[in-house]
Amino acid sequence: MQGNMLGVTPEAGDTLIASFARPAPAADVVQLLVSEMTLEEKAAQMTQAELGSVTPDDLARTGLGSVLGGGGGNPGDGSATAWRDAVDAFVEGSRRSRLGIPILYGVDAVHGHNNVLGATIFPHQIGLGATADAALVRAVARAAALETLATGVRWSFAPCLAVPQDVRWGRTYEGFSQDGVLAGQLGRAAVEGWHGDDLRRSGVLACPKHFVGEGAMVWGTAGGEHHPWIDWWDGWGAAWQIDQGDVRLSEDELRRDHLAPFVEAIDAGALTIMAGYASWHGERGHGNRYLLTDLLKRELGFEGFVVSDWMAIDQLDEDYGVAAAMAINAGVDMVMVPFDYERFIGAVVDQVSAGNIPLDRIDDAVARVLLAKHRIGLLDAEGADRAPDVSIDVVGCAQHRALARRAAAAGTVVLADRGALPIAPDADVLAAGAAIDDIGLACGGWTISWAGSAGAITTGRTVLDGLRDALGSDRVRLDAHGDADGATARVGVVTVHEPPYVEGGGDRADLAIPHDQLEVVRSVRDRVEQLVVVVISGRPLIVEPLLDIADAVVAAWLPGSEADGVADVLVGRSPATGTLPVAWPRSQAQVDGRPDSAPPPWPIGHGVPLGSAVAPSRSGGG
Ligand code: GLC
Repeated sequence: MQGNMLGVTPEAGDTLIASFARPAPAADVVQLLVSEMTLEEKAAQMTQAELGSVTPDDLARTGLGSVLGGGGGNPGDGSATAWRDAVDAFVEGSRRSRLGIPILYGVDAVHGHNNVLGATIFPHQIGLGATADAALVRAVARAAALETLATGVRWSFAPCLAVPQDVRWGRTYEGFSQDGVLAGQLGRAAVEGWHGDDLRRSGVLACPKHFVGEGAMVWGTAGGEHHPWIDWWDGWGAAWQIDQGDVRLSEDELRRDHLAPFVEAIDAGALTIMAGYASWHGERGHGNRYLLTDLLKRELGFEGFVVSDWMAIDQLDEDYGVAAAMAINAGVDMVMVPFDYERFIGAVVDQVSAGNIPLDRIDDAVARVLLAKHRIGLLDAEGADRAPDVSIDVVGCAQHRALARRAAAAGTVVLADRGALPIAPDADVLAAGAAIDDIGLACGGWTISWAGSAGAITTGRTVLDGLRDALGSDRVRLDAHGDADGATARVGVVTVHEPPYVEGGGDRADLAIPHDQLEVVRSVRDRVEQLVVVVISGRPLIVEPLLDIADAVVAAWLPGSEADGVADVLVGRSPATGTLPVAWPRSQAQVDGRPDSAPPPWPIGHGVPLGSAVAPSRSGGG
């Protein structure tokens, strides 16, 4: 190929990318590449495959645009080193393609680099919403970005900008708040944190999701396919009841309550946005041209690219070619296939050849993908060769864990307190509840595996660790099941919890505290002078039965791998400043939207403040 429009002639054997001036203007680079690409290469650039379905050599052969590790899609032994080696191999393979355009490797780093063993797991977004602290959210995203960069990953499918209205939804914890304004402020901060001050040198592309309005889906309208493990949820109420369901708001309501976070994110520089499974008055989001093109791209001026969600286009039509054309014509620019990517590429080529997808729509989609890659420095030799050099030691480093501990404390909300808090520094404590010493339960879904799991699934510190750090191990006795005969103490700290869940698998009709957990609370009640109950959950639960038993009830949400931050609030090392980001129903009737005689829900902003009293530190932690 002769010298290109940038006046640079690639050395023999060089790819086009290796020949670009550093950095050439985006418009020139993008236009040149698009003019060079075959239709097959354009379709490939619009394709995202999951890591188990593609090899580096496949990338060299096809010029695929992206690879993702979905929830639990972890390479090798799941260590940071294994991640970095796998991602580097995929990127290297893509640079051997004819045009040498590197892939974007995408992950769900939604509360830290949460698939990676030993990474810092930050509180889920609902807990960050309880901090209402944009600077803290920005710092958390920046720390997550550095841990993500350390493994060579330059794209995270975060932040989720859902504004959850029905807390029975399994993705409530992925949103910041039921208040769209707060969700927008924190969403903006998250995008700024992911991108950093120099997108080329130390940025990770954010991916605000899922556009738009999913927080308003109606219970009972779930539309997604049922996953084989649906029977997980015996006893926890139905699953897959609202997720991927239908939104029935007017356009004015949709714009008023659910659009603001995306406006903030675009203004903050977001270059990728994920479409949503939710339908709007029965029309699926991935096929809604008005939302994805007229509203998002034309009215809001979004210049980046829209990526589809996992197999979402398959739901548009039984004919895959028709489905692909519907999604792309609506405004999807990259498709998370994620398995049979050859089929998708072939479908696009066929649909364009048949005149069902205009070539200029393809060129626009490819140009948007390439623009994002150019902005992050992948489309010139300097950028492509110089992936940010962030040490693997950053993953799970002490500084990030301290930040996560601070965030867990700041998001802890005291719902009620009859003078039990803060726990006196000379108190002896009986600690009970399955979640009091369980990292997996404190982290919830999207942790190491897609749905997460109980147990010591990664490294970190629990609520029990924090209590012992503050009060001394000799004075904090673990009685996990609350059945240690005769054990008494001045103070009892008992957790109640939800098991980890994800997406529609966490849709739950009944938000009562399970009977067996209430039994543990009652058992400890009889053996202590003051009782503190800590709720570890992705959403509000009905705590009325606890209010009659406990002297204090605290919402800790899903605090992450540094749950000792929750204990910091209980013992007064950190002030209690957390406030509700969602209204907290006081009865199942209120959850269901039925009138009742219970006290009204605790409103957004509720939280019993505890002073900034700082208990004497026994080990200097905190
Ligand atoms: C999931 C989620 C989306 C996630 C994607 C990749 O189904 O809806 O939030 O980013 O697939 O794991």
